[in-house]
Amino acid sequence: MYYKKIEGKHVYLSPIDFKQDPEKYLNFGTNRQIRYQELEAPTSIEDSREKLEKIAEDTFSIVSKDNELVGFCGITRTIAFNQRTDAFLIINPNLDIEKQLQYGEEGYLLFLKYCYEFLNLNSIISKNATQDEVLREIYRQTMKYLGTASLGSYVDGKYYDTDYFQLTKKTFSLTGQQNKILLPGKGYELDTKPGQLPTSLKGQKIELLRPNEEILKENDLEKLVEYLNDYDIAVPLGEAKQNWFEKNTKEYLMGVTYWVMRDERIIGFVNLLREDTHNKVADMEYAILDKNEHNKGYATEALELFQKALFESNYLNSLISGVFDFNHASQRVMQKANMELFGIRSDGYYMDGKFYDMFMNNNSTVKRHK
Ligand SMILES: CC(C)(COP(=O)(O)OP(=O)(O)OC[C@H]1O[C@@H](n2cnc3c(N)ncnc32)[C@H](O)[C@@H]1OP(=O)(O)O)[C@@H](O)C(=O)NCCC(=O)NCCS
Repeated sequence: MYYKKIEGKHVYLSPIDFKQDPEKYLNFGTNRQIRYQELEAPTSIEDSREKLEKIAEDTFSIVSKDNELVGFCGITRTIAFNQRTDAFLIINPNLDIEKQLQYGEEGYLLFLKYCYEFLNLNSIISKNATQDEVLREIYRQTMKYLGTASLGSYVDGKYYDTDYFQLTKKTFSLTGQQNKILLPGKGYELDTKPGQLPTSLKGQKIELLRPNEEILKENDLEKLVEYLNDYDIAVPLGEAKQNWFEKNTKEYLMGVTYWVMRDERIIGFVNLLREDTHNKVADMEYAILDKNEHNKGYATEALELFQKALFESNYLNSLISGVFDFNHASQRVMQKANMELFGIRSDGYYMDGKFYDMFMNNNSTVKRHK
């Protein structure tokens, strides 16, 4: 049963109908649109229901006025205090192409309006990691092109670049026609086998080490808690609203990808967030927690070692890292470590009563070999 939650001219947004939609979602299963942005293609009806249940609170069915399912749209990775989110769209591949485009666009605009006016979100990003022409066109019409990250998208046996689109509350009414035409990308045949990261990576000045309880015990945990609560560290990391105490500091540090070690002391970390093994892409965060150790080249060396290991071990093909506009030291580090700016996410970070832009950087297997 569809409920008319938000009504447009030809379509409306409804909560998912758990009687009909799992089967349809499963039939879209071969549809590459599902296999991106943490959405995994379902393998059976039960699996389809479970997958939809997981995302249902933040997902709508887009339904035409003659009760045909047009697709699904929803949000993931929402960070409420920054008023930012990623939004996804899936279009029913069995509809006429005109309906996919027209109804999909209308449904997505209703959804974006809902994000701004009901959820009080501000910065919304959508990625087309699918090489899908319908999605590319709908995003192009409803949002603004932000930039293209190298690789990060696995479709039908090849790796492709990923197009990013964005929209803020302010720019909501200004989208559409001004966007450049985007053409299908060139596919790369790269190794699809999963890679493994080594336990330790030794550099000239620092070592990267996988977390290990014994070594954490030998470190001064109180100091590490103190560093994480320091605004000079927490604000640029985007973690200023988190209260750090021993328990969660320990959990956090045990969960990062590598520690940055110097003289057997943990002085920082490099961490992968939102690892997407299908598309072989992840986001990266890093810090040199001890301010006495800043400006000695440690972060640069850490990022160089880390990327070399990621790409050479075939663990990832593409790495993304956002840096806030006021963080000049980190922008410099990215530059030195061969991360390239591919676009600016407007107003993606909220702090001290103001919005700040996020500079989106990327490196990839392909770029490394250029
Ligand atoms: C950003 C950070 C990781 C840098 O670590 P680091 O070990 O000091 O970095 P490096 O020594 O390798 O390089 C720092 C570079 O920034 C430059 N820099 C430092 N402060 C700067 C500033 N205010 N403006 C411009 N450049 C600055 C340094 O001169 C150096 O560049 P150079 O080698 O060309 O002289 C560290 O400051 C930190 O952890 N900050 C808090 C958390 C954070 O910002 N994390 C990154 C989130 S994206």
